[in-house]
Amino acid sequence: MSIHKSTPPPAPARAEGFLSDAAVAARVLAHIRDGTTDRGDCVWREPVAHYRSEERFARERAVLRRWPVPFCPSAALPEAGSYLAREAAGTPLLVVRGRDGRVRAFRNACRHRGTQVAQGSGCARSFVCPYHGWTYRLDGALHRVPHDDGFPGLDAEKSGLVPVACEERLGLVFVTQEPGAVDADGVLAGLPPLVDPTQRFLGAGEVEAEVNWKIYLEGFLEGYHIRATHPKTFYPYGFDNLNVVETHGPHSRVTFPFRRIEKLADVPPEERRVDGLLTYVYHLFPNALVTVLSHHTNLVVLEPVALGRTRLLTWALTNRGGDPDGADAKRDAEFVNSTGAAEDLAVVLSIQRSAASGANEFFTFGHFESLIAHFHRTLAGALAGGG
Ligand code: FES
Ligand SMILES: [Fe+2]
Repeated sequence: MSIHKSTPPPAPARAEGFLSDAAVAARVLAHIRDGTTDRGDCVWREPVAHYRSEERFARERAVLRRWPVPFCPSAALPEAGSYLAREAAGTPLLVVRGRDGRVRAFRNACRHRGTQVAQGSGCARSFVCPYHGWTYRLDGALHRVPHDDGFPGLDAEKSGLVPVACEERLGLVFVTQEPGAVDADGVLAGLPPLVDPTQRFLGAGEVEAEVNWKIYLEGFLEGYHIRATHPKTFYPYGFDNLNVVETHGPHSRVTFPFRRIEKLADVPPEERRVDGLLTYVYHLFPNALVTVLSHHTNLVVLEPVALGRTRLLTWALTNRGGDPDGADAKRDAEFVNSTGAAEDLAVVLSIQRSAASGANEFFTFGHFESLIAHFHRTLAGALAGGG
């Protein structure tokens, strides 16, 4: 068994949000030198029943409806009429960029008899309900009712698509289905821009897996598993259990350095650039992640479809600046998706299947898994009424 010396170097001062790249690099280099890693100070035991209770699952999805949750990157809606329809926390939603450039969200249900007025993504001039042809403008207003003499007294003003709170921030589109309980300005304050305008949208992906959304999420929030789970894929480029972990309000960030970051030891601190030398994984509570990899960035949303079923939605983007044709980004994405992501999926499916075995009353998260403890602590607070 290997012994880790795990006393972290003192954390450099930070103004707001997460550490600067230079401060992260310094912290990583100190860990490499000392054989240490960041660690928390508590061991968290999460009851397995919390992954198996329909009642708790329903309350968790209610939290997702109260919080501002990323729906897609702004770059996935590039022009007037660009839209995306999908379910979020059990609600069919339609998000569309209007002719005025504003992004709006609606409940995706015709005001006649409820048919969804759009599917998937694309670019539209208006939305025509496929059932009887009621037509809605990009701003949701009801525009046309075929044979409207059959609806005497219909108030068109009150029969537009039902709006949902929606705003663009940090390069992402956030939707809050039930606003009021959570202060969006408060919970998103101080976060850095996660996607900037130089980053191009490359494509979206979607897979469903027979796993609870929290088990899936936990796999993104620690680097303790890298050597055992990814021995031939990520580990050869990285380290065994060497991470910088940070929290910011309900959110967090874990840094996975590549071995090649060691060359920065010879670079003066003020000249150090970390691009391509580490991976950042931002967790936006409750169920979204922004992963900044060597040559591409992903928005990942873990959509809880059922207690034991999760839809993993991804939007791939180029990294900041450079890579004009996106070729490096596509290569990077293919490598990650065809190798490491499959290894992560195999592990979480395995956990899901064993959860019913009765072997564990609790799952235990140790000092190297402190961001998972932070997530469960935050979720418990949100379920108890803190948003
Ligand atoms: S349900 Fe949409 S037009 Fe009838
Ligand atoms: Fe992994």
